[in-house]
Amino acid sequence: MTRRRLLAGNWKMNKTVAEARAFAEAIGRRAEVFEAGADFVVCPPFTALHVLRVTLPARVALGAQNVHFEERGAFTGEVSAEMLAEAGVRYVIVGHSERRHLFGETDAVVEKKVTAVLHAGMTPILCVGEDLRERQLGHTERVVERQTKAGLAGVDPGRAGEVVVAYEPVWAIGSGQTPTPEDAGRVVAHIRRVMEREKGAEAASRVRILYGGSVTADNLGAFVAEADIDGALVGGASLNPDGFVRMAEVITKGASA
Ligand code: 13P
Repeated sequence: MTRRRLLAGNWKMNKTVAEARAFAEAIGRRAEVFEAGADFVVCPPFTALHVLRVTLPARVALGAQNVHFEERGAFTGEVSAEMLAEAGVRYVIVGHSERRHLFGETDAVVEKKVTAVLHAGMTPILCVGEDLRERQLGHTERVVERQTKAGLAGVDPGRAGEVVVAYEPVWAIGSGQTPTPEDAGRVVAHIRRVMEREKGAEAASRVRILYGGSVTADNLGAFVAEADIDGALVGGASLNPDGFVRMAEVITKGASA
């Protein structure tokens, strides 16, 4: 089965409304790049969702970096899946390692968020990945397996193929260091095997699995050349419009329209 490649930018806590607008206008001048056969998404802070909704090129979707799993209520500072969907959001990053490590998100919370995002008709981007110590102990496969199984525990096998999984080794995030593409490809292939075991062959062949961690326009091509890697979740390098356009060009090369 051919899976559409996906380039997702995670802006983290960067860019004001004015800066977001300037980014959208800049990539809009190269809008033809996004017409080829891949999917593109930009995940800004909540405050910049609206301006991007009205300024991004039509083929670049809107994403969010977080969501709360409850539908509404006394949860000061939180935003529900329905609110995001209404704001035009199509993808939601769930369980990013910064949220797991800095804000104490557990596998159980991540699972509830994945379910809420699907329920609201959006696509979760479930992040998994080992930290440096886990890698040094040889636990990489074990960790991504646990996070994948737990994150998708509440997802019906019939819908599991809609989910996007992002393999982001924690030690590679923002560090300029990456695993080799072959190494990342091996871990991603393992995640696909876990999907097959848990959700069946159909879901495993449909689910898109991204690599994330110090991706740039220069190294992206080598990662997506791996058979099981369907795209990238990019932090720092996604902030620059020229860089984003260059990565879009790389990811569409060889992709079917
Ligand atoms: P960098 O691309 O800045 O390493 O960040 C990766 C990431 O965390 C994307 O979610």
